[in-house]
Amino acid sequence: MEKTFRILRYDPENGQAARFQEYKVPYEKGLTVLEGLYYILENLDATLAFRSSCRAAICGSCAMHINGQYRLACRTQVSALNSDVITVRPLSHLTILKDLVVDLKPFFDNYKKIEPYLQPAKAGTGKEYLQSEKKRGKIDKLVDCVLCAACYGSCPVASMNPKYLGPHALVAALRFINDSRDGKSQERLAIVANDDGIFRCHTIFNCQQVCPKDIDPTNAILKLRVKSFVSKLTGKI
Ligand code: SF4
Ligand code: FES
Repeated sequence: MEKTFRILRYDPENGQAARFQEYKVPYEKGLTVLEGLYYILENLDATLAFRSSCRAAICGSCAMHINGQYRLACRTQVSALNSDVITVRPLSHLTILKDLVVDLKPFFDNYKKIEPYLQPAKAGTGKEYLQSEKKRGKIDKLVDCVLCAACYGSCPVASMNPKYLGPHALVAALRFINDSRDGKSQERLAIVANDDGIFRCHTIFNCQQVCPKDIDPTNAILKLRVKSFVSKLTGKI
């Protein structure tokens, strides 16, 4: 049995318009979309470009638009798509560098704005920053983000406003604000509580639907709004 992989091809350097190209890929039980792409690369067309690394839903590099949904290619079983045609496009509204590879600079530029690293109140103590199991529970799920950009690619607000921090950066902000070891909660809230941050979100829920790690960025943004209101009312930010 074969499946037809219909892949968006585009190379800005050859001057040709973007087009879909079809490939026949032998199907066997357990085939993932990523394995299908590798079959094409190794057997049919060595010019096909896509990103991947871990093949285990951990590195976040293989997010793409597959049969109408943003997904990780490595964790998407072809059988689960219930179709003989697998249509694959790159993430939306990011510049295509080649085929399925997009320029993630805007995504990571926004991520860096929330200073995504632990900033303890007392740094340089020479001791470990310990955390109880209960307090660790407050950052459960949030720490699972693999920076795949599926949420960012699916977000219409991000598509219209490159300055919008994006669901991924706001998830990371809440992750550090909720972390008992971090000492910069108010400073982090001040970074996100503005029109390029939590108040730009239109609560469309796309990010919630596509996150391959079931993180629910929409809920994270709503929690940040509540925290920022409290901080503003109490004059902390
Ligand atoms: S929040 Fe989910 S969809 Fe967004 S970058 Fe993280 S893992 Fe990917
Ligand atoms: S290859 Fe790493 S997440 Fe898919």
